Amino acid sequence: MERTDLANLESLSLEQFRPYVTGIYTKYFWSKPGEEHYKLLAHFSTHYHGATFIDLGTSFGCSALALAYNPANRVISYDLEDKKEAAIDLPNVEFRVKNALEDGDQLLASPLILLDTYHDGVFEQEMYDFLSRNNYTGLLLLDDIHVNPAMQQFWSGVSHTKLDLTTWGHWSGTGLVVFDMASSTLLGSLLTPSAA
Ligand SMILES: C[S@@+](CC[C@H](N)C(=O)[O-])C[C@H]1O[C@@H](n2cnc3c(N)ncnc32)[C@H](O)[C@@H]1O
Repeated sequence: MERTDLANLESLSLEQFRPYVTGIYTKYFWSKPGEEHYKLLAHFSTHYHGATFIDLGTSFGCSALALAYNPANRVISYDLEDKKEAAIDLPNVEFRVKNALEDGDQLLASPLILLDTYHDGVFEQEMYDFLSRNNYTGLLLLDDIHVNPAMQQFWSGVSHTKLDLTTWGHWSGTGLVVFDMASSTLLGSLLTPSAA
């Protein structure tokens, strides 16, 4: 699949996922960058091939769908309970109902983890500490970094290289933590809008 360009994010279509989008997400899933982050997630997926992404916080499955945009990658999506309203039977998406920290090795092997759970700063800190302690080398993408004081405090305490992608992501704050600057080439192509 061709890599998408940050400058053309708005034109990226998620229509193929319409049969799986339910509830309040029928309103939000299609929103433009800066309002919702689903097009940014799909954009990220086009810059990988053969990767397994981790989606923390399935809910109705929309972030998993967006991350699955490029079928050359897999998505493993975790939640503590199954809240999905529609069966999502895509070959490159797997749902697990369990604490993701039980699958620590799987997390550490993934080049991209999306964290979008309860936004109380507690699980975010636990996950960030786990990844730091175990020398994680991938990217951690966080939803809602500005949504409340607990998340703002968590975000300001992140000591790795971090980028605020809210302009292209979710109005409530989208943050990217770069654990290893060896990913800087990938970051360049992901985040630099081309002049084309
Ligand atoms: C805001 S919703 C996720 C929305 C989803 N990522 C999307 O964009 O479609 C948060 C979800 O995280 C789940 N959750 C909370 N704590 C969790 C944890 N420790 N591990 C996995 N999921 C968790 C909740 O049950 C809830 O369904």
